[in-house]
Amino acid sequence: MNKLSIRNTAMDAWAIFMIAINLAIRPNQTVGGLPVKVVVFASSKGGVGKTTLAFNAAIHASKTAAVQMADRDPQRSLLELCRRRHGTPELKADNPQMLDGVETVASAIDVLEQSGYARDFLIVDTPGSFMDIVSEAVAVADVVVLPIRPSPFDLLAMTAVLDIVRALGKEDRMLFVLNMVDARSDLTADALKAIRPLSPNQPVQIANRTDYARAPITARAGIEINRDAAAEIGVLWDAITRIAKRVGKNDGKKVYGKSRGSAAGRARRARSPRG
Ligand SMILES: Nc1ncnc2c1ncn2[C@@H]1O[C@H](COP(=O)(O)OP(=O)(O)OP(=O)(O)O)[C@@H](O)[C@H]1O
Ligand SMILES: [Mg+2]
Repeated sequence: MNKLSIRNTAMDAWAIFMIAINLAIRPNQTVGGLPVKVVVFASSKGGVGKTTLAFNAAIHASKTAAVQMADRDPQRSLLELCRRRHGTPELKADNPQMLDGVETVASAIDVLEQSGYARDFLIVDTPGSFMDIVSEAVAVADVVVLPIRPSPFDLLAMTAVLDIVRALGKEDRMLFVLNMVDARSDLTADALKAIRPLSPNQPVQIANRTDYARAPITARAGIEINRDAAAEIGVLWDAITRIAKRVGKNDGKKVYGKSRGSAAGRARRARSPRG
């Protein structure tokens, strides 16, 4: 059995054993014992840059924090990319670290936190369809990153994911990322105008750069081959951590009239958001 088995029974000894063996994680890497911060990349449209931005953000974050990643997209692009990175000796593959066999984000968090194997951040990639998977991840997110391309079609297509974020009362944690931005296009200004009123957090822009698409050929991230990419992903990560810190202050308090409770509890609420 090579499959990480993470179940709702958080102290499942077998699951913890398999986590330790499969991933060779060093225990207790969370900063000051704080709970892991969960950053979910989500959209209701394919090809907007969720995987690319999650991967680049994770590699950027790993310079200053201990990072784990989970791939909830059945296509498993991020998982495959991380496997290839892991098999590339000159790349330091231990951080960020990819979790294998995650069945739900909530159960993975519970197992990692209660076993002491959680790191500072868990970065989660999700599919552009299968909204039940997206919903489960958003339910346990400290920060929800919503990449969209500056086009009318993308703006129309984000309704489904916005409905999920709103149903779960997470509007204050969502961060729009205008991705693949062409500075010369007037569509950028139009898109900014449309998304600014939807979130209290200032949107971040990421340029259209071939290096984001080129870097994975050698199991690298765009930020590892392009300085401008590194700078803008740095800005994105700063925006993410600002939200995460603010959310952290609310830990243990009521958030939108509900206690955050355990990850599994949050996931149960995701299945019946108003329940
Ligand atoms: N800022 C960018 N500049 C140039 N190309 C980009 C950028 N962001 C992503 N891409 C490219 O766009 C394509 C789609 O990106 P990606 O796979 O990350 O999207 P996705 O939202 O994860 O898609 P899916 O919903 O299919 O999982 C890829 O070829 C990727 O390399
Ligand atoms: Mg993807």
